Amino acid sequence: ELGGYEDYMLKEIHEQPAAVQRTLAGRLDAGGGIDLSESGVDLAGIQRIAVVACGTAYHAGLLGKYAIERLARLPVEVWVASEYRYAHPIGDDRTLAVAISQSGETTDTLAAVETARGFGAKVLAITNTQGSLITRESDGILLTAAGPEIAVASTKAFLTQVAVMYLLALELARVRGTLPEEELLALGRELRRIPERIQETLDLVQGRMGEAAGLYEDARSSLFLGRGVSYPVALEGALKLKEVSYIPCEGYPAGEMKHGPIALVDERCPVVAVMGRGVLREKTLSNVEETAARGARVISVAARDDADAARLSEVLLPVPELPELLGPLVASVPLQLLAYRVARDRGLDVDKPRNLAKSVTVE
Ligand code: F6R
Repeated sequence: ELGGYEDYMLKEIHEQPAAVQRTLAGRLDAGGGIDLSESGVDLAGIQRIAVVACGTAYHAGLLGKYAIERLARLPVEVWVASEYRYAHPIGDDRTLAVAISQSGETTDTLAAVETARGFGAKVLAITNTQGSLITRESDGILLTAAGPEIAVASTKAFLTQVAVMYLLALELARVRGTLPEEELLALGRELRRIPERIQETLDLVQGRMGEAAGLYEDARSSLFLGRGVSYPVALEGALKLKEVSYIPCEGYPAGEMKHGPIALVDERCPVVAVMGRGVLREKTLSNVEETAARGARVISVAARDDADAARLSEVLLPVPELPELLGPLVASVPLQLLAYRVARDRGLDVDKPRNLAKSVTVE
């Protein structure tokens, strides 16, 4: 079953190119054109979106927010499901609730769906599990095709959730006419090539994970920093590392460092910087520079030829260059491997971290 891998987490990380490819198949044609008519929800009249999810799926939702707001100019709120249900949320029948859940059985997410239905929202479920509870509570379903995910820490399900959120953003942009068609198709074509880019990332970083994990030998905590779309990547990187290694980790928007968390920084608190592209790359660089000046050992996820990132960091985990919005689909991968490697180096059971269950069916 493990097909030569030592554990499911590593196997599932390596299955990501195929998982994303299956998830895009039939929804994106060779020219970059989108077909999401299967969603079963009429997207034309939607005026706002509320994404509800837990944990890793919540991070996929945050990435979806960036994509939908930027491409389709539709306001998106993203809620941790357990907060949503008690928050007296605002919405009506022109609200689309998007519930993201690998298992489709998460009690908090199901309850958030019920809350949204209560004010007349349409519900679209993004799930990896056909026939799961959430599919029965929804108006429409978009399945992720990650295949069974056995390791408790979610990896391939996450990337397929992000891929579906991007498809949804492109479809909403098409329906709403918010982007020139050529631009939409170009993004669609880039998305279609993502499975290859994920494979390229796996190949690029493989030889560097030992060195990166080495920085955690006597780490007491760790900070993951990013801005814009790289911020949810940082959050997910921190969640992954904390859940499998038990090292306290925090994901932060890099620009917030000076407002508090920089107090944590010392040589036993490795800083992981997700550089991203565009204007925010430079801002991130200068935020990370401040942590390095205070003794932090820095790992960066950056383009191969990013000389500034290389100068700042002890280890650079290289990722292929992509349009800014799509970067998270590759930048997340080295952080999954980092979590895996650090936990293995500590002799921990990566597939079954203590205190955690694969699906959380209690409130
Ligand atoms: C983290 C992780 C959890 C789940 C969360 C939601 O690696 O696996 O945070 O993402 O419990 O589970 P689903 O997606 O099944 O609703």
